[in-house]
Amino acid sequence: MLEIHNLTKTYYLNTKTAERTDEGAMPETPTVLPTLDDISLQVKRGEFVSILGPSGCGKTTLFNLISGLEKPDRGAILLEGKDITGERGHVSYMLQKDLLFPWRTILENCILGMEIQGIPRKKAREKARTLLAEFNLAAYEDRYPHVLSGGMRQRAAFLRTMLANKEILLLDEPFGALDAYTKSEMHEWLMSIWSKYHPTILFITHDIEEALFLSDRIYVLSACPAKVKYSLTVALPRPRKRHVLVSEEFIQLKKLLLQILFE
Ligand SMILES: Nc1ncnc2c1ncn2[C@@H]1O[C@H](COP(=O)(O)OP(=O)(O)OP(=O)(O)O)[C@@H](O)[C@H]1O
Ligand SMILES: [Mg+2]
Repeated sequence: MLEIHNLTKTYYLNTKTAERTDEGAMPETPTVLPTLDDISLQVKRGEFVSILGPSGCGKTTLFNLISGLEKPDRGAILLEGKDITGERGHVSYMLQKDLLFPWRTILENCILGMEIQGIPRKKAREKARTLLAEFNLAAYEDRYPHVLSGGMRQRAAFLRTMLANKEILLLDEPFGALDAYTKSEMHEWLMSIWSKYHPTILFITHDIEEALFLSDRIYVLSACPAKVKYSLTVALPRPRKRHVLVSEEFIQLKKLLLQILFE
């Protein structure tokens, strides 16, 4: 289980003031940017939990803290009861931009996490090849990222994240840049992978329908500085198919989330 306790983070930006001093210089004044305000949440093993919040509220900052890329001002992050605050290497993190390296083939991109962990390349390749087939990317393993469609690139980036083989996957708006049709296909695809391997997923989105379709639970964040505004359990039965999007139950939950987000 991942537990986040009272995470708080403030950024400081040095900005030049418009007013010049008598000497003509423009003094720098620190701009205080409170970004996360006392965020607490939990993700159980095998759960799919979404973080839903407006753009710029601090969602990526939360992931940067959980992954240890940055440190909080206050609060703690626990994994299976162990304090991992500020430590790297405990979670697999798929960044908001897919960041496939253009000079590496799809196969080489996919084994990156394993390479960093020191797994021999041959073994890493074998492992990646098995999953590449399952992700419908086998025909592309020796191609470079630029020949892939947006959806394929996201599948490859997700595969790399899974192959890093950590207990928890952090996915930061993985489908944010895709068109509605591809996005919907990716949702069904992700659900089939998730129901097979049951990884623990923490998923960032600002798309209400996406959060409802995919998640067991949703945390709604407020605008910046982000606070947890609401926590919702999505009791829609699984497996979920596209037609659930027009069911009465789904529409009621969507109304509720819209109200909470925009209140
Ligand atoms: N390294 C940093 N230094 C200073 N300010 C930062 C830094 N990282 C983020 N911020 C600020 O923190 C706030 C939250 O940014 P963040 O990227 O976490 O938002 P987000 O919810 O992920 O937004 P989006 O939905 O657009 O991706 C923004 O005001 C941003 O400018
Ligand atoms: Mg972000």
